[in-house]
Amino acid sequence: MGTPTKSSVAEDVEVVRRILAHIDAGTTDEGDAWREPVENYLDQGRFSRELEMLRRFPSVYAPSAAIPHAGDHIERVSFGVPLFAVRGHDGRARVFRNACRHRGFALVEGHGCAHALVCRYHGWTYRLDGTVSHVPHADAFPDLDVAGRGLVEVDSRETDGLIVIGPVLDCPTDSQRMRADAAMASLTEGSPWRDKLLPAERLVYVESTARPMNWKVLVEQFLEGYHIRSTHKTTFYPIQYDDLNVIEAFGPNTRITFPYKNIERLRDRPESAWTIGRRVTFVYHLFPNVMLATFPDQVLVVTIEPVDIDHSTVTIYAMTTPAVAEVISTAPGETAGARGLLAVGALEDNEMSEGVQRGLRAGANTFLEFGTHESAIGHFHATLDERLECSR
Ligand code: FES
Ligand SMILES: [Fe+2]
Repeated sequence: MGTPTKSSVAEDVEVVRRILAHIDAGTTDEGDAWREPVENYLDQGRFSRELEMLRRFPSVYAPSAAIPHAGDHIERVSFGVPLFAVRGHDGRARVFRNACRHRGFALVEGHGCAHALVCRYHGWTYRLDGTVSHVPHADAFPDLDVAGRGLVEVDSRETDGLIVIGPVLDCPTDSQRMRADAAMASLTEGSPWRDKLLPAERLVYVESTARPMNWKVLVEQFLEGYHIRSTHKTTFYPIQYDDLNVIEAFGPNTRITFPYKNIERLRDRPESAWTIGRRVTFVYHLFPNVMLATFPDQVLVVTIEPVDIDHSTVTIYAMTTPAVAEVISTAPGETAGARGLLAVGALEDNEMSEGVQRGLRAGANTFLEFGTHESAIGHFHATLDERLECSR
């Protein structure tokens, strides 16, 4: 692993300087190359070890904007464990295991808002803090300890616009616990993304899609700009640069900056007047399986959920500022063009990832080759290997 890890990322002005220098020189940020064995995408034992390790570390669960008000709730399966998040009357976001304490029915389906959580099966009812408020025909359960039978909470923290969960499996050793704590710190110290995410406080939509791909192929999809010209010929390439990125690793995470051609307009302006928001896309890879991507009118939080060795669920939370949300609701045509472009670009990316997944079984390669311009992918695999190694 060669990409140097820093505790944070560069200021916007410094990022612009680096991009303009790369445009002038025809260069891009470079790091170490990486070769990932094809076997690591196909071996059932490896997948099981990954899943077990992933359950022993924290991860981003959902953006805060997905549940802004008391009673708002949203479910998601996290590393095979069904969970949901709900905001209480006290304003706190809590994450619970998504199973009724009667016979385990999944309490929350999809997302919604409710004063209380009522199980559809027999009607057991829970308050927003997880305590039981009502058991129909309670006399039929003479031994039931109602106070002790609340929903089972998962350790979580909400900060800088994200709800982050702790391990969903117990940490077996002190050193494992310390590693999990350090990983939690890397997802809750939000200074690299806070000012990009927090203004986008309005959820526009949530969309989950099943994808016939290994979760790591999907992660790789977001982490390089080497494919812009070939893959996105008529979508992103006309407005972006091919193979020109700023790549910054911070702890286990990475930020990749994709500049738009309008960044060159800044050359004639003093640095004090530089604005970056509509001139780059920042993709923050929040290790292991979440991407936070900024666009001129929206921010996406994308969770990539391993389902089995060659299937994943991708959930996109699209958010925007209150001002843009107002435009979308009153004049949807105004922003439709940009959103349509993004949707077509995503189709193109998924087509490529499906092709990579199919190629894994062709027997042509013993490893996938990632060049020096794709170093964020190397950082991802190196971090994954390191965590697998220390969780043995
Ligand atoms: S399983 Fe929920 S009330 Fe029976
Ligand atoms: Fe792409």
